[in-house]
Amino acid sequence: MKKLNVALFGVLLLIFACQRPTSENKIDLSTPWKFHSGDDPSWSTAAFDDSRWELINPTEIWEKQGYKNLDGFAWYRIRVIIPHSLIDNAFIKDSIQFKLGKIDDYDQVFLNGELIGENGKTLPVKTDPRPDFFKGASQWDTERRYVLGVGDSRVHWDQENVIAVRAYDQGGAGGMFSKPFEISMVDLSDHIKFDFTESGFKFTGDTLISKQFAVYNISAKEEFHGKLLIHANRCDNGSQLFKQETVLNMPPGIRTVFTVNVIKDLSVPATIYFTYRESASGKEVRDQIEMPYILTPKPGKAPRINGASVFGVRPWSPFLFKIAATGEPPLTYGAEGLPNGLRIRAVDGLITGMMSKKGDYTVKIKVANALGTAERDLIIKCGDIISLTPPLGWNSWNVWGLSVSDKKVRQAGDAFAASGLINHGWTYINIDDGWEDTHDRNGNILPNSKFPNMKEMCDYIHSLGLKVGIYSSPGPKTCGGYEGSYSFEEKDAQHYADWGIDYLKYDWCSYGGIAPNPTDRELKFPYKEMRRYLRKVKRDIHYSLCQYGMGDVWKWGNEVDGNSWRTTGDIEDSWESLSGIGFTQDKCSPYSAPGRWNDPDMLVVGWVGWGPRLHYTRLTPNEQYTHISLWSLLAAPLLIGCDLTQLDEFTLNLLTNDEVIAIDQDPVGKQARQAWKDQDCQIWIRDLADGSKAIGLFNLKDTPLPVNVKLDDLGFKGKWMMRDVWTQKDLGMVMTHFEMNVLPHGTRLLVLRK
Ligand code: GAL
Repeated sequence: MKKLNVALFGVLLLIFACQRPTSENKIDLSTPWKFHSGDDPSWSTAAFDDSRWELINPTEIWEKQGYKNLDGFAWYRIRVIIPHSLIDNAFIKDSIQFKLGKIDDYDQVFLNGELIGENGKTLPVKTDPRPDFFKGASQWDTERRYVLGVGDSRVHWDQENVIAVRAYDQGGAGGMFSKPFEISMVDLSDHIKFDFTESGFKFTGDTLISKQFAVYNISAKEEFHGKLLIHANRCDNGSQLFKQETVLNMPPGIRTVFTVNVIKDLSVPATIYFTYRESASGKEVRDQIEMPYILTPKPGKAPRINGASVFGVRPWSPFLFKIAATGEPPLTYGAEGLPNGLRIRAVDGLITGMMSKKGDYTVKIKVANALGTAERDLIIKCGDIISLTPPLGWNSWNVWGLSVSDKKVRQAGDAFAASGLINHGWTYINIDDGWEDTHDRNGNILPNSKFPNMKEMCDYIHSLGLKVGIYSSPGPKTCGGYEGSYSFEEKDAQHYADWGIDYLKYDWCSYGGIAPNPTDRELKFPYKEMRRYLRKVKRDIHYSLCQYGMGDVWKWGNEVDGNSWRTTGDIEDSWESLSGIGFTQDKCSPYSAPGRWNDPDMLVVGWVGWGPRLHYTRLTPNEQYTHISLWSLLAAPLLIGCDLTQLDEFTLNLLTNDEVIAIDQDPVGKQARQAWKDQDCQIWIRDLADGSKAIGLFNLKDTPLPVNVKLDDLGFKGKWMMRDVWTQKDLGMVMTHFEMNVLPHGTRLLVLRK
């Protein structure tokens, strides 16, 4: 078997040793390249003999191809003949482009020994390679496209050319990956672009959805004449909802903004298709965008109690719990059986005070309006463990990055109240990196000028019935280069408590300088250290470990007394990032429990951007349903990372579905496990407190997928009542199997009840 593989590879090698254009006037570079780890300047030259190097597939990271622990430098090389016919057959005969997928983390690309580009940026002839091209923010998610004029001396027409890529991986996944890998002439589709990111979808009334978009011509000298064709189709039955044709001439550099208005049932998934057809050549550039569809029913007028049904507090810590409830105002709140030391405010359901005695207390909470009264048990557990359900809140990082300020934090708190998020259990308003100044001579941590008075700000957030979070690092500096807590842990913990902080995210960052190759003991040490002091203060502070999953933190986060721990690197608003994180969390499943949560990083829905400039999330609506469904199945802390002052109807629909949130907040605290997996589909199952099962069916493909589920395969016996969680509708009984269509990158979230 092994021999056969080798022989086959030999044949491939002969075919692909020197690439030629395909009928589409492209040269395919997704074929095997030569590969070697290490670093040597002579590897950039055409003359270098790479015949002994290994072969590698450029579309997959090197870890997946036998180079498991490779970090640092490695080189890729390929030989190609670039025929002049590429120019002869081209519509625009101006420039040639080299598309090299993406590269994790940094790259320099040489053509025939000369540098043509670095980290996705084309460079002029005779540019010297920058020695520090691998410093700064990782470039792993940047498309590598290098464009040269046809007269550029670095291209050898009708001859063999050697492309050599010097890649540097700073850790984790490394090397070339993604698609496309090809050489082609810059074409109409490279000049004419659609941009959908500048605005979200706007909802008017019950049926009208508008979307602003731009068409632009990035060419500096080409002018195009043609037509813009737009149509929108429903995804379920394909019927057309909208059609329009406009004459559109595009001088160089022009950018034109349009609005398309589609009338549709808000709950129906649909796609808008855009085509620019150039008149002279008939060539087309196409793009498409999924329209949002709203599944969450609007809350009823009768009162309803939402959010967590169990709450943990330590004796002698200030108690703050707001009953989350919806219903037509005014609502009046009450509680029977409150333990000594606690009181409730009837107007907003805020329970405050202090408890002195450990124990479990069952309180009957009540919410009433003109239409009736809702009742539910709230179990208060006064003991050592807090955060008995995963925290629900907002964090400044994915939206504002280092530009966070007092004003933005207060605005987020106001928006929790104004948008009604607070009525669904959303509680924490967390400041991430960027608030710190220095420690003064007495070791007191000082906020910078963007935070004039931390205590006042915390009081304000608390007055809304919300809690406040803060961020620091066990190292001397945070990841954003601000002051960390190294050697000031005790004083910092006391300051946080004095200000009224309820949550600390503690981010490894520059502690890497103190423990460069950390042993297990070194990984735990700084987290234990800060924990000691947090335990001492008379305030409950959720302790969130952030060290990207090093040393399988989910196995020992509990031992260092963390309340949650990041299991991965940073999330971004792309399907690659979301699915790469979300679908690899099965390994953490056994370790979640009340007060001990696996944290696959924060949410990337709504207006995000790592600040100060924002864009609407690049995730499609289906991907966003997947995001919230999967994170809820994973019992993850849900931290919204968007600008709450710009919450649109669709994002609000994602964040206010009480049945989805109830899965996340289920009091047993067991993370879902992956019950089925193939290339196209995954099924995750979470056991819930009342014996029912939450099930997520996920479509990993970019086309719709019928999923046939046999209950036997999932180990379910007997009769089950099935409920669609997003639409909050019962779907009837199932006994043996059921089949469902799942939209591209989308989800069906179900609960099966005995
Ligand atoms: C990263 C962390 C992010 C954010 C950032 C702040 O290490 O993973 O979530 O906190 O630091 O600098």
